Formats: sequence, structure tokens, C-alpha cells
Amino acid sequence: MAGHDVVVLGIFVADLAFRAPRLPVMGETILGQGFAMGPGGKGSNQVIAAARAGGKAAIITRVGTDAFGEIARKAWATDGVDTSAVIADPDAPTGAAFIFVSTETGNNAIIVESGAAAKLSPADVNAADHLFAGARVFVTQFEQPIETAMAGLAAARRHGAITVLNPAPALPVEDAIFALCDYVTPNETEAATLTGIAVDTVEDARRAAVDLVRRGARNALITLGDKGALLHGEHGTHLVPAFPVSKVVDTTGAGDAFNAGFCLALAEGRPALDAVRFGCAVAGLSVQKPGTAPAMPTRAEIDRLLAG
Ligand code: RIB
Repeated sequence: MAGHDVVVLGIFVADLAFRAPRLPVMGETILGQGFAMGPGGKGSNQVIAAARAGGKAAIITRVGTDAFGEIARKAWATDGVDTSAVIADPDAPTGAAFIFVSTETGNNAIIVESGAAAKLSPADVNAADHLFAGARVFVTQFEQPIETAMAGLAAARRHGAITVLNPAPALPVEDAIFALCDYVTPNETEAATLTGIAVDTVEDARRAAVDLVRRGARNALITLGDKGALLHGEHGTHLVPAFPVSKVVDTTGAGDAFNAGFCLALAEGRPALDAVRFGCAVAGLSVQKPGTAPAMPTRAEIDRLLAG
């Protein structure tokens, strides 16, 4: 099937989200203030966000033939995601994530176990060749093996798609991967891991972005939470401010929302800076609801925010 706006290589997991005032210390039990289980995983969150925002979107992944795998299939069907490159693996469980959400700030801490998707291989990418033909934007992350991410980026390049690497969670990597990236989109923590530059200020982000471009990325786009996102590369250096948010409920998945919005806007032919603003709008809306995939906004909500 040709002509996808956004093709995502990444994982699905069931998110088990606990709200509490703080994390327990080792050996301690504390009472929570809320629990929810729902669809998650960075790749799946991104493909759902892109589809809900109006894009034709597909995911390349593996899930188990279990109850969590069923949650994945229902979530993708609800938003019209193309699942023709989803492999059902009877020998491995679908993954899960433990998510702590602070009731004070809405910020999160996560442990993710990729499950069946940890077996995603370059051969799985090759088997999804039908998705790359005509794809406008390809995006992947680091929740499946890096060699598989590289195979996806290389395949997308060969087919002329714009390539986006969201290097999350943070891992030190060889520079060869950056040469396959039109955009690399770390947050502050991930940028620090990739470059060795602590990213606390916009100036730190600019230095980290310069380093990522020097190492081969065509552009670096560093997300900075409520400060917005810094784009550096072939379009110069620009800070795009975040949209003001009156009440942050849950920041989990905000990076996925941003990446999905950015990718979809590029696929629609918007200039890079407009695409960053679109990504900021999707992220700003997502933090106002609990959860990850369930918090992704509709196109009408995004357009309303962008129209001011
Ligand atoms: O980016 C948020 C996601 O990271 C969560 O949905 C969790 O599953 C982890 O993969």
C-alpha cells in the first residue's frame, strides 16, 4: 500500500500508570492515588497520534498473541492505523511499562520492557518494504534494537522518505546512525547522553544540537519541555516556544505527541519551523489529559490551538 504520510518503526507495550506524590525508596511501600492501564510504547503512541491528527499512518512492530496484544490491535483499529506490518509472535509476550506519574507536577519516570518487540529485526523491516514505497516520513526510536532502527532509517532513505530518529530512551550510539537522519529529535536528557553536554539551558541545547549535526545528522531538533523546541541545521537555529498550558496533568507521551505532530506536518509539506510549531501544539494538548495514546488530540483540537 503506497502513500503513507508517516511510517513508524517502534514498539507497543501496555502502560501501567500509577499516580503518587513520590516514588517509594527501596524496601518501602506507599499508597497510590490512582491507577490506569492503557495502550503505550513510544512507536505505538506516535503512530496513534499521527493517525488521530488526520494522517495515513502505519506501524512496523511485533506483539505477542496475548491480552496486551489485543489491547494494541483495538487501539490501532480505533484510530485507523495500518497494521499490515505487525507481526504476531506466539513465542514472546507483549511488553509492559511501569509508569510513575507525580501527583504534584504531572512529570513521570518509566521502566519499559519491550517484550516481543525486542525481537524486531532488520529482516522484519525488509518484510515491510510495501510501506516504504511512497512513504513521506519515517520515524523510529530506540525501544527496539538499534540495528533494526538503522535498517529502517536506511530503507526509508532508499525510498526517498524524510527520516526522523527520536533517540528515546537515551543510549550512547555510533555516529553512523546520524548520517541516516534528516532530523534527530532528543529531549534534554537524551541529548546529554548522546553528546556528553548537560542540557539545562537553551544555549546548552544549541551546543548539543551543533554537535549532533557535526556528527552527521542533517538537523537536530531538541525538545525542551515548557521552553519549546530548538531546531538547528539546514534552516539555521531557531527556538520555537511551547504553547502555554494552564494545568499539566501528565507529561507521559508528550515527546511522542511532539514527534508525531512534527512528522505529520512535514508529510503534509509544511516548512520545518511550521512543523515544529505543529508538534508543539500536539504535545501541549497531550499533557492536559492523563495517559499516553489516550491523551493524543484530534485534528480539530490541534487546528483550534494553532488558530489561536
Ligand atoms: O513515551 C512514553 C512511553 O514510553 C510510554 O507509553 C511507555 O510505554 C514508554 O515506552
